[in-house]
Amino acid sequence: MDIVSRLAGVIGSENVSYCDSELQSYGVDRTTIWEGNPKAVVFPRSVKQLQDIILFANKYSLKVVPSGGRTGLCGGAVANNSELVVSMDKMNIIKEINLDDRSITAEAGVTTQQIQVAAAENHLFYPVDFASSGSSQVGGNIATNAGGINVIRYGMTRNWILGLRVVTGSGDILNLNKSLVKNNTGYDFRHLFIGSEGTLGIIYEATLQLTEPPKPSTVCVFGVEKFAYLIEVLKICKSMLQVNAFEFFCNNALSRVVGAHQYQRPFDTESPFYALVELENTEIETETVFEVYSKCVDEKLITDGVISQSIDQARALWRLREDISETLWHFQPYKNDISVRISKMADFLNDVSQLIQKNYPDFEIIWYGHIGDGNIHLNILKPKNLSTLQFKSFCDGVSMSLGELISKYEGSISAEHGVGLLKKESLRFSRSEDEINLMKSIKKIFDPNAILNPGKLI
Ligand code: MLT
Ligand code: ZN
Repeated sequence: MDIVSRLAGVIGSENVSYCDSELQSYGVDRTTIWEGNPKAVVFPRSVKQLQDIILFANKYSLKVVPSGGRTGLCGGAVANNSELVVSMDKMNIIKEINLDDRSITAEAGVTTQQIQVAAAENHLFYPVDFASSGSSQVGGNIATNAGGINVIRYGMTRNWILGLRVVTGSGDILNLNKSLVKNNTGYDFRHLFIGSEGTLGIIYEATLQLTEPPKPSTVCVFGVEKFAYLIEVLKICKSMLQVNAFEFFCNNALSRVVGAHQYQRPFDTESPFYALVELENTEIETETVFEVYSKCVDEKLITDGVISQSIDQARALWRLREDISETLWHFQPYKNDISVRISKMADFLNDVSQLIQKNYPDFEIIWYGHIGDGNIHLNILKPKNLSTLQFKSFCDGVSMSLGELISKYEGSISAEHGVGLLKKESLRFSRSEDEINLMKSIKKIFDPNAILNPGKLI
């Protein structure tokens, strides 16, 4: 009997798929570099089935790729080498909303948007948000410590995890932190699993902290001439109002989005860069938003701007930023997701610009990102005359020089997308050899037969 038939005997043939289209789609994430080629896709419906799959994989030396919404951007969920994909699609139940604890407990396959909606229905708020919230899943968010557009105000996914239930690479079931707010009882394994990219175990359930919904907000888009001005505008906004989001994009990004979706530009004056700012306000503070605008104009930091006058207008302005990633996806972008401390941002951006001009003189470069968190997404679009492999190997080369620069600034080669397959070679620019060796030792404890997410992260 072949291995897939044996597996079907363990968890039921209705939970195993090896049809070509599913193998291909479940074998890839949102990177456009690799093609999927797993042996089979399995869909556990219970923790018992999940544990049986992991025990089976250990027994028959099968490699396992945990799989959520596959919206990742670094190849963390790619299965291109006869692995078994374990999809969490069928473990998708919201188990409890606890109003006393202000928490929600959900299986790993619940989408981010379902969490947001369930919270809102109970007059609460789950603040982790990004463009792919409709398809990204809770388990994947946690495994990659997802960031998004609200980090400046609310932090990353890590800040919102009260408890986790996981099956480790050796098949043990762990209940981590038991959803407690205070729990000083030694090593907190919950935090080890957050951001571990499916290399230690598979998260099957999580309890997330919810909070008060934010007050109404105003969204502004400002045009600026120089990177450095963005940082000055950020300082002014922070000094005068509660900043919920501070994003930026370059004119190329705006033109691509406006062109693809027939949106209106925010105003007629073209600028090299734009800041999108969401300011939380009450009616009294609306005045202050105009004061922020005037101060930025007086200090010659912004060339033009728009302040939303309605919820619809605020949403339309957000689309200009949120639709960038999806728009660029069709042009096979090579993605850099880098960060430094805010205080070093202006100098860092200067140095990155010079490096980019020198190394990519003829490529289309698209800058955008979460400048308020010190995080920029540097996307290089694939020229038509290069094959995917030629393009990747050229950009990988430039990434080494970028890595040196990041290391000099003590920054990160991956601020929020993760390491996966894409950035493994650059990890050494952000983490020391000792740290990487410690990570390898930790992996051996939780996944002694190295079955989980082979080749990713370390
Ligand atoms: C974003 O900020 O839009 C996301 O991280 C996705 C991307 O970088 O493309
Ligand atoms: Zn981002």
